Amino acid sequence: MCEPLLSVNRSPKDEEQEGRVSLHDLKPQLADMREEVLAGLAAQPRRIAPKYFYDKRGSELFDAITRLPEYYPTRTEVGILESRLDAIAGMLGRGNVLLEYGSGSSRKIRLLLESLRPLAYLPVDISREHLLGAAEALAVDYTWLEIHAICADYADGLELPWRPPPRAGVDVPITAFFPGSSIGNFERPAAARFLAGVRRTLGRNGQLLVGVDRRKETAALEAAYNDSEGVTAAFNRNVLVHLNRALAGDIDVDAFAHRAHYDEREGRIEMHLVAQRAVSFTLGGESFDVEAGESIHTENSYKYAPEEFRELAAGVGFDSVAEWSDPQAQLSVFLLRAQ
Ligand code: AVI
Repeated sequence: MCEPLLSVNRSPKDEEQEGRVSLHDLKPQLADMREEVLAGLAAQPRRIAPKYFYDKRGSELFDAITRLPEYYPTRTEVGILESRLDAIAGMLGRGNVLLEYGSGSSRKIRLLLESLRPLAYLPVDISREHLLGAAEALAVDYTWLEIHAICADYADGLELPWRPPPRAGVDVPITAFFPGSSIGNFERPAAARFLAGVRRTLGRNGQLLVGVDRRKETAALEAAYNDSEGVTAAFNRNVLVHLNRALAGDIDVDAFAHRAHYDEREGRIEMHLVAQRAVSFTLGGESFDVEAGESIHTENSYKYAPEEFRELAAGVGFDSVAEWSDPQAQLSVFLLRAQ
């Protein structure tokens, strides 16, 4: 997570070769992990927030998930972006500022950079390590690109620490990008709060390109979260490995099985860890007794019908001006513009 302000020092030669990266550390207030995790485990139903999936191993496992044959969202979204790039770039326009929420490995942004030739790229991520790693890699490959990396929590809005000077007295429009259907990991009211925050951050003439996984038949959804190689199961159970290490715990990880099912009414995949027998453990100095068959809820992944998403966006002041989908209508990429 973020640490005090760090400027990225490079020799003049490196700067020349790697473009410019400035880090703006907004020092996000991090929840107290011990307090949050212990409260979640003591609650009924028990829960662990999905953000704790992403230690180093968890991020590697998520990368592996994105390459699984059953996990369609990543390749579907990349397919849409690649096949419709000219139309998307035409609508977004060149020479804007390009802001990416939850930039992570910045893989998909590469598709947009060449076509959009933005004035500057602003990746935003809560993990300073991910943020800087990805920004530096981009700076090597896109020497013409000015990069302002912003370490911040963006869930409820973001005050931009840098804006380009107005051009001919007019503010440079900001184009935001939020790929991966990560919006699905917000509860629905939190998704609305996030979009409202984006709307405030972008201001007039702002636009958001956002990937959204769609409601679909249960079998395809459940297969995507119950892959045959057991990678999603390993990803889910790794959260316990992470907590054992971070909070001096002795949870028997093998005592918990991965379960993922689609709740059609809620329009969400739920992931759980289910105790295969009665399990007692200590974590962060507290003791827990979990009964056989009890579950710990680890993630929700919400799916949206297109009209449902357009309505959500309209409720916070965004018009959906374009939508691109794949031939199977699995996922949609929406272009939202501030009303
Ligand atoms: C990151 N997020 C969009 C993934 C999803 O599909 O909700 C996380 C994930 N969980 C299990 N598989 C993938």
